[in-house]
Amino acid sequence: MDLKLVKPTKFLEAEFRAAISEFRKNGENQIESAFARSNYNFDTYLKMTKQAEAGFALPEGFVPFTTYWSVVDDKHVIGFCNFRHYLTNPLMIEGGHIGYSIRPSERRKGYGTQQLALLLEACRWMAYEKVMLTCDYDNIASAKIIEANGGVCSGEAISPRSLKKVLHYWINL
Ligand SMILES: CC(C)(COP(=O)(O)OP(=O)(O)OC[C@H]1O[C@@H](n2cnc3c(N)ncnc32)[C@H](O)[C@@H]1OP(=O)(O)O)[C@@H](O)C(=O)NCCC(=O)NCCS
Repeated sequence: MDLKLVKPTKFLEAEFRAAISEFRKNGENQIESAFARSNYNFDTYLKMTKQAEAGFALPEGFVPFTTYWSVVDDKHVIGFCNFRHYLTNPLMIEGGHIGYSIRPSERRKGYGTQQLALLLEACRWMAYEKVMLTCDYDNIASAKIIEANGGVCSGEAISPRSLKKVLHYWINL
């Protein structure tokens, strides 16, 4: 198994669409919300991810962010992750620096844990010294992924979105 993070690319459009369909069939409609915001037009989505990384044309309240796809054997898109370049007060309550997902058919194979490890490596290269992550208190898999990657729980808050408890973690890089 050779897992890599890549930036969104036209070469894997069909695979990307297949992954998105899987999420949607599973009722997970918010995954890769930039694609939904682009009305499922792939070229618009590609442009939006590039603009978001450069800090242009961001939706209200968004900070610049980098989108990565997780790809196995250079061809199979199995997940997505986003790195938000800095924190705001709302992100420090819910969201943090990093969001991620693994497509339903590829879960429970260790990819979620490995994907975060690769993203943290990218953060080290960008000279970040620590990152914050948040996780719904009942998202056992996500909490395990964060803790397996060195996350230390620093507190909790109530999500203004879901009104559920969210756990706060920091990872020293
Ligand atoms: C959370 C998510 C990324 C996990 O991905 P994954 O590839 O299944 O994760 P892993 O295989 O690395 O599993 C990590 C750990 O969680 C456990 N786990 C995975 N799914 C689980 C589940 N549904 N219930 C309980 N434990 C679970 C695994 O057994 C593993 O435990 P271990 O380290 O003790 O062996 C995936 O379920 C997902 O995309 N969910 C929707 C989006 C989401 O919740 N993102 C996180 C927002 S903070």
